[in-house]
Order: sequence, then C-alpha cells, then structure tokens
Amino acid sequence: MIICEAKDYDELSFKAAVIIAAQIIQKPSSVLGLATGSSPVGTYCKLSEMYKEGYLDFSKIITVNLDEYKGLGPNDKESFRYFMDTNLFKHININITRTFIPNGLESDSEKVCREYDDIIQKYGGIDLQLLGLGHNGHIGFNEPSDSFSCGTHLVDLTESTINANKCFFTSKESMPNKAYTMGINNIMNSKKIIVLVSGKSKAQILKEVIYGAITPHVPASILQLHPDVTIIADYSALSIE
Ligand code: GLP
Repeated sequence: MIICEAKDYDELSFKAAVIIAAQIIQKPSSVLGLATGSSPVGTYCKLSEMYKEGYLDFSKIITVNLDEYKGLGPNDKESFRYFMDTNLFKHININITRTFIPNGLESDSEKVCREYDDIIQKYGGIDLQLLGLGHNGHIGFNEPSDSFSCGTHLVDLTESTINANKCFFTSKESMPNKAYTMGINNIMNSKKIIVLVSGKSKAQILKEVIYGAITPHVPASILQLHPDVTIIADYSALSIE
C-alpha cells in the first residue's frame, strides 16, 4: 500500500487525476472503474480540464461504475448515472455507450448483477479502480458484514450510509434503501486501485483500514492484500494538521 499525502482536497484531486491521466496515456483503451460521492468530484474536474487542454483522449476508454441505487435511472438527479454524466462524461470525448453503470430501473435484480459481471469480464477486467471510503469502511456499497462479497450484488444500505448520503436527496424518505454494487472480488481483481480519502471525519476509519485487522466488518481493510493500492489522503484524513 502506498500512502500518498496531499495538503488539501485540491492537491488530492490533482494527484489522483495525474495517476489516471498516466493510465489513459499508457493504455488508451483502459477500463476505468469509477466512483461517485464527493471524494472524486475534484478529480473528475481536473481530468475534464486536462481533456479541454488537449492532453487526454477518452475516445477508446471504457468505464464501469461501482454502484447505483435500485429504482433510480438516468433522469433522476440523484442517480449515479446522472452524477457521472454531469461531473465527467459530458465534459470529455468518451463514447457514452461504453460507460457502464448497474441498471437501477431493471426489476430483475439477479439479471442486473449477472449482466454487470459479464460486462466487466467481457472487457478484460478493470485496469484502474478509483474508490472513495465510507465512514464505516465501505467501498462501493460493500457494507460491513460477516463475510466479503464476491461479484455484483444488491445490498440493503446501512443507517450510517443512508445518513451520509441523504443530503443528496430532498428527504431521507425519498432515498432508496437498496443499491447495486460491485463485489469485493470485482474490486480486488482490478490491476490498480486508487483510494481517495479527505477530511477529519474519515481519519479514524482510515487508520483502521491501513493498520487494523483485515475483516469484513471494515470492508476496505481487504485492500491491504492488494499488490497495487495507492491511498491519496489529505492532511486532515491523515490527522497531521
Ligand atoms: C458512497 C458511495 C461510495 C463512496 C462513499 C464515500 O456511499 N457508494 O462509492 O465512495 O460513499 O462517499 P464520499 O466520497 O461522499 O465521502
């Protein structure tokens, strides 16, 4: 595990964007695993700028997102599809038909999960996976539990996750309580992983992820076993300010 310090959110976003840019330059047809939430917004902004300045070409890139709420679709402003379109995809020259997110509107959940795993496999697996970190140690929507998950699956969101994400919805009641997420195996099979951690509120869980026991009760702790993980964390998250 490489721990990369950043003095603040802006520097964290810059460093993450540079690593992703290097991946795109080295392999223009990369499969990028992408995340939503507040952590990657700055990174997407910097990647969009690099594209506008002519440094990056996304035309051959394939993306697979970590997760999506069950019941929400592209027209719902709170959906992760809408988030990705507005924060990244519409600012770059990506082929939108090669950007994948679990289909929140499909009623057959097993079909959604099976098809999503097939897509990841069809494109040869994920070259670089970007992750945020939940306050309870979740990655994607892999919540703390008694065992590590395998492939894409449907989860019941925990109270902690609902509370952390309800600000994106008009009311707590309008927030779905189920979501699709890639499994821990999908994430661990990625060739390279970058984790973005910002803010004092993540300091305690970050310590557990890096130094604590590897346990499904802190899902991100399994990243200790991955051969190529870079955690980019700001001083607040590292508690050095
Ligand atoms: C959400 C998402 C995760 C995200 C995490 C952290 O619930 N499903 O993919 O990484 O929580 O979010 P944030 O970056 O807003 O702190």
